[in-house]
Amino acid sequence: MTVIAKPLSEAIGASVTGVDLSRELSLETITEIKNAWYRHSVLVFPNQSINDEQQEKFCRYFGELERVRTTTVAEDHPHVMLITNAKDTGKPTALEDGEMMFHYDQCYYEKPCMGATLFSLEVPDVGGNTLFANCTKAYEALSPSWKERVIGLKALNYYDYGISPTMRPGGEIDPSIPQWVHPVVRTHPETGRKALYVNRLMSMRVVEVSNEESQEILQFLFDHIESRQFIYEHSWSVGELVMWDNRCSVHARTHFAPEKRRMMRRVTIRDPIPVK
Ligand SMILES: [Fe+2]
Repeated sequence: MTVIAKPLSEAIGASVTGVDLSRELSLETITEIKNAWYRHSVLVFPNQSINDEQQEKFCRYFGELERVRTTTVAEDHPHVMLITNAKDTGKPTALEDGEMMFHYDQCYYEKPCMGATLFSLEVPDVGGNTLFANCTKAYEALSPSWKERVIGLKALNYYDYGISPTMRPGGEIDPSIPQWVHPVVRTHPETGRKALYVNRLMSMRVVEVSNEESQEILQFLFDHIESRQFIYEHSWSVGELVMWDNRCSVHARTHFAPEKRRMMRRVTIRDPIPVK
């Protein structure tokens, strides 16, 4: 197989062809995919036909699988979750309003996931797109004075699945809800590139500064990360596997009509390395 990665936008993402994900992949192919992943942060593999096991197997080439933690799991596939509005699957499902704001997955944990994959089973004809923003390019595009201002800062990341996602600023932090303080600028362990590591949904406050200054910094960074120049918007077709690097990109879902069905199968890759 020859892996061909074609950029999907100036900002982030590449479409990958020349690989059949239902088959065993050679070490060479896996290396090529990893290199493309590090370069483009988001990979889209169109025209694939894979089942639960094949998606799990593909993810294992990159790391250990994350056991689903936020909902009850199917005992035979504890690493698989359906992200859907369908109620008739008989399987563990989730669909969060919070997904509609940009976020890093699991950044409220000490070791957020390395990346995740979604395989599209059913998609609405309109909407339900996924936006990806390149937080490496966003960091690199900061002015020298902003770089100096944010380097070394830390932010509290927190998310309460039980309440409305729009609790910042000033919302009450429940100490029993998962939360973690991470650097505002992190370094990718594979590429060595710095990326902004805050997001509008879950980054509550910069811990070293006053509330006012924290608000000012975060508001600026959120707007900056979400500038059009750093974003690729993926409009889904059935049979696509999308994998994103959760160490340097944030994502958000767009609205779709609730009477339309959207079903994605998600498998998540753990990161053994803490955020640095
Ligand atoms: Fe997410």
